[in-house]
Amino acid sequence: MKFFIDTADVDAIRELHDLGMVDGVTTNPSLILKSGRDIIEVTKEICSFVTGPVSAEVVALTAPEMIAEGRKLAAIAPNIAVKVPLTWDGLKTCKVLSSEGFMVNVTLCFSANQALLAAKAGATFISPFIGRLDDINLDGLDLIGDIRTIYDNYDFQTQILAASIRSANHVKDCALIGADVVTAPPNVIKALAGHVLTDKGLEQFMKDWAKTGQKII
Ligand code: G3P
Repeated sequence: MKFFIDTADVDAIRELHDLGMVDGVTTNPSLILKSGRDIIEVTKEICSFVTGPVSAEVVALTAPEMIAEGRKLAAIAPNIAVKVPLTWDGLKTCKVLSSEGFMVNVTLCFSANQALLAAKAGATFISPFIGRLDDINLDGLDLIGDIRTIYDNYDFQTQILAASIRSANHVKDCALIGADVVTAPPNVIKALAGHVLTDKGLEQFMKDWAKTGQKII
């Protein structure tokens, strides 16, 4: 399973990139706001060291304007995936841009039928939002499972990019279900390393080591 980092914080991406943990990056208008940076400038900087897909989202609401924005974003770097919302205009944009050879990430997906439409429109990635479904007491992981089944039934090549990942358990469950990619904030990726027994075991080893009076270096 691929890890994308869901942030426009360049330092945070760089830290995980240096560890080999970054297969791609996703951004959205809220994350651009949080970064305080210009969308073109920050996206260009991310693409200067991330070689995998970097999603940059359009903000227009009509297909002709989305297509124009998408082409401009795609011109930033060859590894840009143009992110479009799962609306009818977004699907039209997906069809046009994917036919032109651009990667397209269809976002704000909350149902299996929406995911089916995105695949038929030629999406490279579909982004179902797990956490936001959980927020309203629906089951985001069920949606990932349904999309996996449908895509496998018909051999759709669109990759399932599980988004709105809020916990380490979300990552594990997506891996078990067979999502192709998870996009998670840096703190969630870091939380994958944590385990209470690791901390406890290390503490005991350090205590015992101190008693030996030895040094390695
Ligand atoms: O990339 C979009 C998605 O991951 C947003 O997550 O936590 O704002 O629902 P969240």
